[in-house]
Amino acid sequence: MSASPTVRLASGAEMPQLGFGLYKVPAEDAERLAAAALGAGYRSLDTAAMYGNEEGVGRAVHSATHDGALSQRLQRADIFVTTKVWNTDQGYDATLEAFDRSQTALGLDVVDLYLIHWPCPRLGLYVETYRALGRLLSEGRVRAIGVSNFQPEHLLRLTDEIGVAPMVNQIELHPWLQQRELRGLHAELGIATEAWSPLARGQVLQDPVLAEIASAHGVSVAQAVIRWHVQEGNIVIPKASSAQRIAENADVFGFELTDAECERIAGLDRGLRVGSHPDNVN
Ligand SMILES: NC(=O)c1ccc[n+]([C@@H]2O[C@H](COP(=O)([O-])OP(=O)(O)OC[C@H]3O[C@@H](n4cnc5c(N)ncnc54)[C@H](OP(=O)(O)O)[C@@H]3O)[C@@H](O)[C@H]2O)c1
Repeated sequence: MSASPTVRLASGAEMPQLGFGLYKVPAEDAERLAAAALGAGYRSLDTAAMYGNEEGVGRAVHSATHDGALSQRLQRADIFVTTKVWNTDQGYDATLEAFDRSQTALGLDVVDLYLIHWPCPRLGLYVETYRALGRLLSEGRVRAIGVSNFQPEHLLRLTDEIGVAPMVNQIELHPWLQQRELRGLHAELGIATEAWSPLARGQVLQDPVLAEIASAHGVSVAQAVIRWHVQEGNIVIPKASSAQRIAENADVFGFELTDAECERIAGLDRGLRVGSHPDNVN
C-alpha cells in the first residue's frame, strides 16, 4: 500500500488516516492480525480496554519494532496506537488507574491516543474523566486525547468546562449514517472525525449503488467505501479477519472517486445505525 496520509491533531501528533480496528478480535488472534496489518502497511491500530486484546496489539508493535521482519525499517514512532477508557472506569482517579492497566497491557511507554469510549451521560463523569486525560497528556504519557461517541451536547459541555475541545471524536460513520451535523460541529471546533464501523460492519457492502461505483474503478465495494472515507477527510479504521481482506482494505490509494460518485454516495445517507446510540449506553 502507498503510505496513508495523516491528519494533524490539535496536540501536533500526526495520525494516519487509515488504521486497523480490533473490536471483536479475540485476544488470541490480536497479535497475528495486528502484525498482518502492520505488514500490509497500516501504521495505526485501534484497540480499547473493553476489547480485551491490548496485550496482543502491544506484542505486535513490539515485534514490528524490535525483532520481527519489519523491525529493520519500523520504529515505535512510526506506529500510532489508540486505546480507550471503558465506561466503568470513568472518573478522575479511576481513569488514571485504568490508563496504568492499559499501558501495562500494551507494554508501551507512550500511548498515541487515549479516548473516552462513551460519554455515558447518566454517569455524569465525562468532564472529570477528560481532566484525567489532560493530566496524562501534560505528563507526556499520551500524545493526544479525545472522545468517542460524543453527541453535540457532550462536546459543547466538555469544551465549555475544560476550555479546549477534544482532539478527536470517534463515531459510527459510514455511507448509511453520514453524521453531517456532528461533523459540521467537529469542523467548527477543530475536532478530527474518526469513523468506526466504516463499512457498517460489512452491511453497506450489499448496497447496489456502491457496487456500481466500485465496479467502475475495478475495486471491491469495501475499497470504494474506505476510499470515500479518505476523500471525506475521515480517519477510518476498518476491521477484517483475514490477511487477504486486511491487505485489500489498505489498497485504496491508487484510485480516486469522482465528484459525481461522491454526490451519489451523499444520497445514500439514511441515518441507519449498526451500533448503539450513545444515549443508550450508560
Ligand atoms: N468507539 C466505539 O464505540 C467503536 C464501536 C465499534 C467499532 N469501533 C472501532 O471501529 C473498528 C471497525 O468497526 P467494526 O469492526 O465494527 O466494523 P467494520 O470495520 O465496519 O466492518 C467489519 C466487518 O466487515 C467485514 N469486512 C471487512 N473488510 C471486508 C472486505 N474487504 N470484504 C468483505 N467483508 C469485509 C468484516 O468481516 P471479517 O471480520 O469476517 O473479515 C467484518 O464483519 C472496530 O474494529 C473498532 O476498532 C469503535
